[in-house]
Amino acid sequence: MSLHVVILAAGQGSRMKSDLPKVVHRLAGKPMLQHVIDTASQLDAEKIHIVVGHGAEVVKETIVNQDVNWCLQAEQLGTGHAVAQATDAIPAGAQVLILYGDVPLTSVNTLNELVSSVDEKQLSLLTVELENPTGYGRIIRNDEGAISAIVEEKDASEEQRFVTEVNTGILAMSANALHQYIPLLKNSNAQGEYYLTDIIEIAVQHGDCVESHQPQFEQEVQGVNNRLQLCELECWHQSIISEQLMLAGVTLYDPNRIDVRGQLAFGRDVVIDLNCIFEGDVKLGDNVEIGPNCILKNSVVGAGTKIHANSIIEDSIIGEEANVGPFARLRPGTQLENNTKIGNFVETKKTIVGTGSKINHLSYVGDAELGRNVNVGAGTITCNYDGVNKFKTELADGVFVGSNTSLVAPIMVGKNATIGAGSTVTKTVEDEQLVVARTKQRNIDGWQRPVKK
Ligand code: UD1
Ligand code: CA
Repeated sequence: MSLHVVILAAGQGSRMKSDLPKVVHRLAGKPMLQHVIDTASQLDAEKIHIVVGHGAEVVKETIVNQDVNWCLQAEQLGTGHAVAQATDAIPAGAQVLILYGDVPLTSVNTLNELVSSVDEKQLSLLTVELENPTGYGRIIRNDEGAISAIVEEKDASEEQRFVTEVNTGILAMSANALHQYIPLLKNSNAQGEYYLTDIIEIAVQHGDCVESHQPQFEQEVQGVNNRLQLCELECWHQSIISEQLMLAGVTLYDPNRIDVRGQLAFGRDVVIDLNCIFEGDVKLGDNVEIGPNCILKNSVVGAGTKIHANSIIEDSIIGEEANVGPFARLRPGTQLENNTKIGNFVETKKTIVGTGSKINHLSYVGDAELGRNVNVGAGTITCNYDGVNKFKTELADGVFVGSNTSLVAPIMVGKNATIGAGSTVTKTVEDEQLVVARTKQRNIDGWQRPVKK
């Protein structure tokens, strides 16, 4: 049976106190709604329908390149009314799962279980026991313990409010049930809204039964209404990732002081010091060590390489047994071969550094290609930009660049050439040459310093 997922995301989220619609606020670097879409995608959904309203344009601009059906709920008349905006696009005979754009961390397992028990005469509801059920719809069961209705808190009797089993809002049913019951919803309740939750009582009255499932973790069904709750979920999410990393063999000096905003792959005996952030896809080889306060984004680090404190690495590929930092900045397009060394206050961009080559101190190397065993002295700058165009610098194998050199690109320095310190190199240097391109030193005997008048 094909599965259609409906994600409700039309609400305003006024308690976020934000100009942005709630569902585009980020958790682990990713909009909450994107988390829900990614989870739905893992369920093999035939189609994902997203109901948007408040800030619909901003939501659609943020969530791009997704094969989803956007449904507009121009006026927010309740969760039942929201689902109604998607029902025309759902074919008879399908299964339907309702999710929420502000409930970002439901697990695929929990949802698979929920969906698997749906049939023509059975709805499936995700519920949870809460010590404090305030604000939630309560699950009402009959004498046999079967679910008969959901009552919203504002409509609940005193007695019903004591119920601690609450509605998470997440439910699954057949498309036929949805098509049959949604038009029957009324808005004669305390909030004057079309409650999706009323569908439960209607279904039971039509002879259907409702099965309940519980998530493994309460946080899976937690919605975000304000920034405090968003942060609580973020912390929980990060704690689960830290736990998984450690159990999989990664040493974390403090599991509370690492953030993973994407996918972190790793080999054996990786060690990560405090306050590191991993964004996008990052791969760490065996025995990689990451010092404190590093940020790595969409990068690969080869086995045995050490990234020292306070280094920032983005869209870069680093070979094996390399040393980077402290205080290095590798910008996009940096490729370090094995046994390379990038020292403190060195910035690289779109640069290949050949095996065994070193840029140890205080340099900018951009749009460059360094061969093997090149030594770049302190304070070397590739002048790669004339204000309009960028040009390339090539340093062949074995080149030695003296300190404080400016390499005015486009420039080519041949094999084993040596550049004297303080040179401004503007012309091709041939293999094995020494180039000294600086003003000659003059020594003047007995020089009298000026005196104050
Ligand atoms: C809803 C449930 C309640 C449940 C709780 C769980 C109903 C009537 N009640 O209550 O039983 O315990 O969630 O968190 O369903 N939305 C729209 N369009 C609308 C109204 C809401 O898209 O017209 C979206 C909101 O953006 C939000 C979600 O639906 O993501 C839930 O709406 P909300 O108003 O927060 O429902 P609750 O009152 O919390
Ligand atoms: Ca809510």
